[in-house]
Amino acid sequence: MCRPGKHFFAQTSVAFIREYSIIMQKEHNPGMTAMLARENRNMPIFLNHCGVSKMLPASADAARAQIDLQAQKGSLMFQDWVEPLNDFKAGGAMLLGTTPDNVSYVKNTSEGLSLLAAGYPLQPGDEIVSYDLEYPANHYPWKVQEGRGAKLVLIQNRTHAELCGGLIEGPGGFRFEDVESKVTSKTKIIALSHVQFTSGFAFDLKRMGEFCKSRNIDLIVDCAQSLGSLEIYPEQMNIAAIAASGWKWLMGPVGTGVMYTSPALREKIKIIFAGADLMVQGADYLNHTWNPHTDARKFEYSTHDFVGTSALAASFKSANAFGIKRIQERGRELQAKFLSRIDQEKYKPLLFSSENRSGIISLVPAGRLNAEEVGKQMAVQGIVVAPRAGFVRIAPHYTNTDAEVISAADALNELS
Ligand SMILES: Cc1ncc(COP(=O)(O)O)c(C=O)c1O
Repeated sequence: MCRPGKHFFAQTSVAFIREYSIIMQKEHNPGMTAMLARENRNMPIFLNHCGVSKMLPASADAARAQIDLQAQKGSLMFQDWVEPLNDFKAGGAMLLGTTPDNVSYVKNTSEGLSLLAAGYPLQPGDEIVSYDLEYPANHYPWKVQEGRGAKLVLIQNRTHAELCGGLIEGPGGFRFEDVESKVTSKTKIIALSHVQFTSGFAFDLKRMGEFCKSRNIDLIVDCAQSLGSLEIYPEQMNIAAIAASGWKWLMGPVGTGVMYTSPALREKIKIIFAGADLMVQGADYLNHTWNPHTDARKFEYSTHDFVGTSALAASFKSANAFGIKRIQERGRELQAKFLSRIDQEKYKPLLFSSENRSGIISLVPAGRLNAEEVGKQMAVQGIVVAPRAGFVRIAPHYTNTDAEVISAADALNELS
């Protein structure tokens, strides 16, 4: 039996560090390798990047540095200060193939989507098309708009059995035609999660974007379960806006998020939150001229989170140094390794066709233990997986090694 004992942790740490060294060599930061060796010793095997991720060491360091700065200097911290939001925007823009003026800091996905939903010029009778099993972040902000006469039109879930054959019931996804069939002349917005948090189903962004462009509909996407693991290029894909959390696939801190908005969408959106940072005159506080920023600062209404933006800027830097295309490929490689090892009689994987695959593999346990129990037993062994909606979700990332996913599959096989 292969359980991750002491020796195993020592081995995986070395492989992990080797992978990181590649990034850090590019960054000319030799001290980082030694730091990673310290940080990663005796770490569990972490395969829950679709939940709350382990923060990248570089991101945690950046956060600590910002906290220390304020702790030691208070307002004097600004003497030699470099605004972390600039790096944040540059890094986010590089990841998304856009320019920094289209990238905003938000606290979380819900805040970003709420700002867009509440500010969108919806008239009574206008329709928003979404999916019935969305995560709350991409449901309630739209639901609230029913208060001003808009209608939230939901496509019904199709199980994996319906989409791909087989027997697996429960949350799955939808077909492109399901969305198309709900669209009418009143549809203004299609609001979907790129990747469903339950099944790991991903919809085809490019195809949906083309459709939305042809019908003059704004495609607004919750990318909490994909940004940092899959390639997303809103300008090429005709996406009006995306919002994402920083603490999943980006491996940043809880309480951080990022939002992309196209200039055309921003122009339509009414300002909902306002404060000093919204205005072009900035720190000229007694000048109350109404002169709001029109770039992505339109949504950064007041004092932002220096600690969080510093950390998430470091996460973007790491993802960009590795390369998002390579991260996506590496995720697939790790999944293939895992799937070749897992006993598919004991765990039924929800496998989708290539264009609907994401970083998540959801498994249905077929043995005596349910998903929650599997999650608990794996945690006892130092392996972090994510039970949700009856599935055990496995979400490996570019920071994982082959040995880790193989070890996780072996441990799962031993369980049921
Ligand atoms: C699809 C999706 N959207 C959003 C979130 C998180 O939203 P928020 O950043 O508002 O907490 C999650 C978290 O699991 C998610 O799976």
